[in-house]
Amino acid sequence: MPNPHPLIVHFPIALFILAVACELTAYFYKSKLLSVCALVASIGAVLGAIAAVVTGLFAKGIVPKGSQAQIVVGSHETMGFIMLACAVAFTALKLWCYFREDDRVLTPLIAVGLVGVVVTIITAHEGGQLVFDYGVGVQKAPPVNPLKAYPYGSESVKKKFEAVDSTKTGNSPDSSATE
Ligand code: HEM
Repeated sequence: MPNPHPLIVHFPIALFILAVACELTAYFYKSKLLSVCALVASIGAVLGAIAAVVTGLFAKGIVPKGSQAQIVVGSHETMGFIMLACAVAFTALKLWCYFREDDRVLTPLIAVGLVGVVVTIITAHEGGQLVFDYGVGVQKAPPVNPLKAYPYGSESVKKKFEAVDSTKTGNSPDSSATE
């Protein structure tokens, strides 16, 4: 089964940052609409973060044992759980604040939101490091045949690539490749 973690992670990242941005703007402009947007986005962020943690725990298995990537994945996992905790705390405080109309929780709500955004960025950065620096879950690209990569273009361009191909391989160019 393909690993759905890279597909899912964008939702909690985007929705949590959106929720905190809406909440901050709603606070300064006293906007009821943005306050509702913050609530809806934060619920989506919690659901997305739960899905990201579950799929991440499965994806952990593809990290080669004893590799340096194991250290990064350990930290990424911890930050992922803290991100989920921040999203849950933010949503719980937001629900309380919204339905009880109790503004005393506004300061902790914004504080948890800002800490959560920093944790989200660190989590996402470490996830990116796993893929782009350590090549976790990445397949090696197949060798490129320039004749197949550039089947169109002028005759002079085709001749140029045929010449490159024959000097590299020592073979005469495959005429069928240009079809
Ligand atoms: C807490 C448990 C988690 C574990 C064990 C985990 C594990 C992993 C692993 C093994 C990878 C590299 C392979 C792959 O792309 O699937 C990865 C990538 C990534 N993870 Fe997580 N993860 C967790 C939670 C999260 C959370 C909560 C987020 C988002 C807030 C997140 C964001 C990312 C991102 C952005 C990538 C890079 C994906 C890409 O660019 O293809 N992870 N994670």
